Amino acid sequence: MVPGLMRRLRVRPGGHVHHVHVGRGAARALPRILAPFCGRPAVLVSSPRVFARHGRAVAARLRRVLRLSTLLVSDAERDKDARGLARVHDGLARAGLTRDGLVVALGGGVVGDLAGFAAATYMRGVDLVQLPTTLLAMVDSAIGGKVGINHPRAKNLIGAFHQPRAVVADLAFLRTLPRRHLRSGAYEVLKCGLLASPRLVARLAAAPGDPARWPARFLEEVICAAARIKARIVERDEREAGPRRLLNLGHTLGHALEAATGFRRLTHGEAVGWGLLGEAFIARRRGLLGAGQLAAIARAVDHLGPRPALRGVRADRVLQAIGHDKKGGRAGAVLVLPRRVGRAVAVAGVREEEVRAALRALAGPNFPPP
Ligand SMILES: NC(=O)c1ccc[n+]([C@@H]2O[C@H](COP(=O)([O-])OP(=O)(O)OC[C@H]3O[C@@H](n4cnc5c(N)ncnc54)[C@H](O)[C@@H]3O)[C@@H](O)[C@H]2O)c1
Ligand SMILES: [Zn+2]
Repeated sequence: MVPGLMRRLRVRPGGHVHHVHVGRGAARALPRILAPFCGRPAVLVSSPRVFARHGRAVAARLRRVLRLSTLLVSDAERDKDARGLARVHDGLARAGLTRDGLVVALGGGVVGDLAGFAAATYMRGVDLVQLPTTLLAMVDSAIGGKVGINHPRAKNLIGAFHQPRAVVADLAFLRTLPRRHLRSGAYEVLKCGLLASPRLVARLAAAPGDPARWPARFLEEVICAAARIKARIVERDEREAGPRRLLNLGHTLGHALEAATGFRRLTHGEAVGWGLLGEAFIARRRGLLGAGQLAAIARAVDHLGPRPALRGVRADRVLQAIGHDKKGGRAGAVLVLPRRVGRAVAVAGVREEEVRAALRALAGPNFPPP
């Protein structure tokens, strides 16, 4: 693909403009995209796994415009912590990165969050470029400027808002992504559709359920559509005072299911898939969602393929995790509930008993119940 033919999405959070470039071969355009930073020092932060697959080619392009060093760090979720952050800070300091320098993050959400938070804090903030290599990172974590690390008490507890100067999502990166991760990202794409675009939901339903079989053009279109939905919400609410909370659709319950299963049984996307179903069930029970709409949501989620079952998941642990979800605050569970395909609302005071009923329904053989 000719680099000039990729899609470009303009993002303007808090008045500061940057672009998200999406396309197969988009990374080939890096020298042109980063021309405004020509001659500046930069550190490419990646993980050994991602760098082994894509690093050399990316570094060669970056070297055409930047004075580049490379820093490889673990992208295990458990290393997205204060020690991992210190390693990135050390690497930036060792490379002699100065205030006019650039951090370029090449990887999934872990690398993006870690390198992004390092960029937000090193010398009180240096410029950041995101090169997301997972579907989740392309539609979610690389967009919106949230960066951060985990704390022993909670995931993503420590962080900052630090908007990237550019995001370049090259679909060629996804060719090496394990299938389960690709599918996991597809649930995030669906979440965006359920939140704001019946058209995106319909398009996903008409495509193969397995995203590994999505044609390149379709992949490019849905990544753009999902990234645009996130970008538009973030533009209205960069600091999550209101509408940005809606992006938690499927996530409050999803995170709790991840926590209750020890972050091992489910990928994040699979947990979001279950979370979408459970929250739709609660919305239906409250009369916020029609039966036909619940069935449509369930079909859309199930179309993306089987998820590990929830049998044996302890409701007490899920409830405890919801209580600990930092976005819930002290008042208890705030859940984002669907009103119909393409619209959701944040609802406070969802009761324990509602969550228990949803978990029972999800673990049962027939969902949605007639
Ligand atoms: N900042 C935000 O707004 C935001 C939003 C959502 C999620 N997140 C964070 O994102 C993280 C999850 O990100 P993720 O799902 O991208 O997972 P990830 O970064 O853990 O990557 C998943 C795995 O895929 C590998 N990988 C990445 N790209 C690859 C490629 N192209 N080919 C082969 N292997 C590749 C990685 O080495 C890793 O083993 C979590 O820490 C989550 O908290 C942040
Ligand atoms: Zn998510």
